[in-house]
Amino acid sequence: MSEPKTLIVSYLPRGGRSHTRALLETFRSAAGVAAEELDLLVDRPPVFLPDSLDAYVARNYLGQALTPAQAKAMAGMDRLTAQLKRAEIVVLATPMHNFSLPAPVKAWFDSVILKGETWDMGPDGFKGLMPGRKALVLMASGGRYEGPMAGWDHAMSLAKQLFGFMGFSDVRGAWASGVNNPALGSPESIVGAAQDEVRKAVRDWYGR
Ligand SMILES: Cc1cc2nc3c(=O)[nH]c(=O)nc-3n(C[C@H](O)[C@H](O)[C@H](O)COP(=O)(O)O)c2cc1C
Repeated sequence: MSEPKTLIVSYLPRGGRSHTRALLETFRSAAGVAAEELDLLVDRPPVFLPDSLDAYVARNYLGQALTPAQAKAMAGMDRLTAQLKRAEIVVLATPMHNFSLPAPVKAWFDSVILKGETWDMGPDGFKGLMPGRKALVLMASGGRYEGPMAGWDHAMSLAKQLFGFMGFSDVRGAWASGVNNPALGSPESIVGAAQDEVRKAVRDWYGR
């Protein structure tokens, strides 16, 4: 049986000290899969600028052919979108920054959530075009967002919502939350519990 095509998207600016990286290493060793890698520290995703936004609307909403200059303006987003569409399983590894997704991670989502490519509008409303795909969001955060604080999380909730919007059928999170709050236990124990979630997803999705 062939391996599910796997894409790892990471943004880990704390390098070797990153708790999220520990979750990603657990995924790598448990899955043992040859994944395609997108390191957003190195390969910085574009953001919409006037020329690319105009080109996107012209092509993806109005069905117009692009001029060479417009095609060039969309090339970065088109490359990232094609890469995502090749994947059956996507692993996103990112910390929480300011209660949300770090800007490069949000820019990656903005680059790949293209109408007619990963989602569309049908008679019944929005329709994800990526059914059958799976996504695992690996995240660490200093605080924990439950009870009255739950509404402060715009990181894990947004990542899951955006994969769901694109139609991913199975979207899971492994979240080491509260690593900077000693009252919740040691960072090692918090990361350890999230690593168990990673191993469970690998068992379910890769059968190992
Ligand atoms: C710029 C910045 C912003 C942060 N904002 C938050 C935040 O809003 N909420 C939170 O719980 N932790 C926040 N943290 C703490 C990180 O989420 C925490 O250090 C986590 O371990 C980062 O993941 P990493 O270990 O994979 O780098 C922030 C850290 C940095 C550097």
